Amino acid sequence: MTIAIDGPAASGKGTLARRIATHFDFAYLDTGKLYRAVGMAVLRNGGDPADEEAAEDAARALDPVALEDEALARDDAARAASQVAAHPAVRSALMDLQRGVAASPPEGKAGAVLDGRDIGTVICPDATVKLFVTADVEVRADRRHKELLDRGNASIYARVLEDLRERDARDRDRETAPMRPADDAHVLDTSDMTADAAFDAALDLIEAAVREALEKSGDEAE
Ligand code: C5P
Repeated sequence: MTIAIDGPAASGKGTLARRIATHFDFAYLDTGKLYRAVGMAVLRNGGDPADEEAAEDAARALDPVALEDEALARDDAARAASQVAAHPAVRSALMDLQRGVAASPPEGKAGAVLDGRDIGTVICPDATVKLFVTADVEVRADRRHKELLDRGNASIYARVLEDLRERDARDRDRETAPMRPADDAHVLDTSDMTADAAFDAALDLIEAAVREALEKSGDEAE
């Protein structure tokens, strides 16, 4: 079973995906981290994330240890990620790894939750259930701003808002695998929801989709 969770930055999809994975005891893959690690690797090599060849080399050489780097949470990593993510060669270099987790979840888990931008549309088009988690950009900026302040980081709301708008536009308008809900995704707008309410709503959608998938496979078996 694969649960695909897509959506824009700071929509709460990561927190939600992690909770869902824990709830079902499924594997969890934060695919944003892959692009962040590639972006950071390019920056550290002194390269330009806009350079497709440099980004592809970094994607092909990606070391899983790099995914543990705390620097990946930073805004410069996010910015570089959304630049390298626009290159088709980078996206195809990271495809097998993502599909591998969905097809054979590590540690013998019975399923996997993948979160990103194109999981439901490109990586796992046959996912058991697809959610597209979103919220108004001002709400997302406010959440991200408060989260940064809570962590003791300096943050300016207007700057956070501008960064999110810029990243949304780049992710939405790129030619390869643009961020968009799959035709069969359930859109969950969390603008007016607490994290707990979003989790409950997501569980309802997932449980209904699983019931439907089981009924369908039962019908086919008859
Ligand atoms: O989800 P996160 O904010 O960590 O993603 C960082 C960037 O990586 C996104 O802005 C997007 O450009 C890119 N990304 C992507 N496809 C994914 C996951 C992330 O293009 N599946």
